[in-house]
Amino acid sequence: MSTGTISFDASDVRDAADADRTLRIRGGRSLRGEVHVRGAKNTLPKNMVAALLTDQECLLHNVAGIRDVEIVGRMIRALGGTVAREGSGEIRMRADNLVPLSREDAAEFSGRSRIPVLLCGPLLSRVGEFFIPDLGGCNIGPRPIDFHLEALVQLGAAVQETSDGVRLTANRLHGAKIRLPYPSVGATEQVLLSAVLAEGITELSNAAIEPEIIDLIAVLQKMGATISVETDRVITINGVERMHGFEHSALPDRLETASWACAALATDGRIFVAGAHQLDMMTFLNAFRRVGGEFRVSDDGIEFWRRVGSLRSVALETDVHPGFMTDWQQPFVVALTQAMGVSIVHETVYEDRFGYTSALNDMGAQIQLYRECLGGRKCRFGRRNHLHSAVVVGPTPLRGTEIHIPDLRAGFSYVIAALVADGLSTITNVGLIRRGYEHFEDKLLALGAELDNAPVTLAVP
Ligand code: EPZ
Repeated sequence: MSTGTISFDASDVRDAADADRTLRIRGGRSLRGEVHVRGAKNTLPKNMVAALLTDQECLLHNVAGIRDVEIVGRMIRALGGTVAREGSGEIRMRADNLVPLSREDAAEFSGRSRIPVLLCGPLLSRVGEFFIPDLGGCNIGPRPIDFHLEALVQLGAAVQETSDGVRLTANRLHGAKIRLPYPSVGATEQVLLSAVLAEGITELSNAAIEPEIIDLIAVLQKMGATISVETDRVITINGVERMHGFEHSALPDRLETASWACAALATDGRIFVAGAHQLDMMTFLNAFRRVGGEFRVSDDGIEFWRRVGSLRSVALETDVHPGFMTDWQQPFVVALTQAMGVSIVHETVYEDRFGYTSALNDMGAQIQLYRECLGGRKCRFGRRNHLHSAVVVGPTPLRGTEIHIPDLRAGFSYVIAALVADGLSTITNVGLIRRGYEHFEDKLLALGAELDNAPVTLAVP
């Protein structure tokens, strides 16, 4: 059973054991009860990286016990900083003597997450150099970092591509007028974390404005930065000489919240997600209601259930904020397999984010992928060889099967599919889900799911 404790000690053995974990789920039960969602997987690591911008102490609250937090904690220690748990959901960090990350450590961390690319700004500002090995992350597309590198060059960094990564150096970064080719979350965070200690003013156009970006800006403002977000996606950063420590409570995870909401929808259950914020999920809540879900918002969370009757098919298009988030698409598609009629989902953020649907079809779903832009508008991937639109015919009964998890969000979607399916599903590579879902097995059990963690010997293919 996942203990969810945050450990910042290097524990490759535990990682390997985690990755090999197998989960067996017997489907057919409605999930009912309450879960608690804490700080977001896509916020916490960035708030932790911000602590590297100062030599003062930083305290972060509402920290979830997830692998990505552990990985960044180990990175901060490898850089000479200190990271300590203060209680079940607090960590205290201090990076008063930064040293360059060794190439071995850089390689170890980059194989597990994409966060190392965001260390550029703090390390270039405080140490004058940084090396980015080839990055890890999920297999949902090539996920290049060209926007990041182009922005860093404009901010005054020298970039040298090497056989195993990219080496950057800078005396002092300086302000620049940068326009992103696409409102990239990571590239926006890159500029924010680099420009705050740069000399002069940086103007970033076509920036991402996701709630996680605003949460990072709130942390940087607490640290002494002056950052304004204009109405036309322009973010202006006034560089300062020094940044001071911060105390912050991280944004709750709207992606995990949406996953539990889709589990309630798909299993015809009723789940209260304590800690969920309506403001970060308005677009999701609209789509949830359109498909036949219902929700009740209270000060301490949101309750989700299926309205009486069958789910209804919808046409959906993912987009940057405030559009329907690409990370909401996977659990939502599982719910659409149980909706009456033909649904259309047009994925416009990642070119290859429907790979997971083949396993759903093996379970009995009827999902067909297309290269065309089947949605409201033409997107960047139209007429290129990307299967980025899906047509889902429902409702289709799902049957349990053996599933190997390819990436984080697809992983939790397979859990939802297994909860809906008739019979037993054996899911391998479950450790990936721990990157972003705290205590998820405990939560499933608390909601009435029928799990069996006993070690199984999978049929050798
Ligand atoms: C962040 O990834 C999230 N990850 C993703 O969540 C999320 O799906 C994504 O933002 C979009 O909201 C974290 O925050 C750790 P992008 P990021 O840069 O920053 C292209 C999850 O499961 N691009 O906004 O990497 C890119 O290929 C993960 O929690 C370039 O071409 O996303 C993609 O098509 C999955 N060049 C698009 O932009 C670049 O230099 C959006 O990527 C950078 C990005």
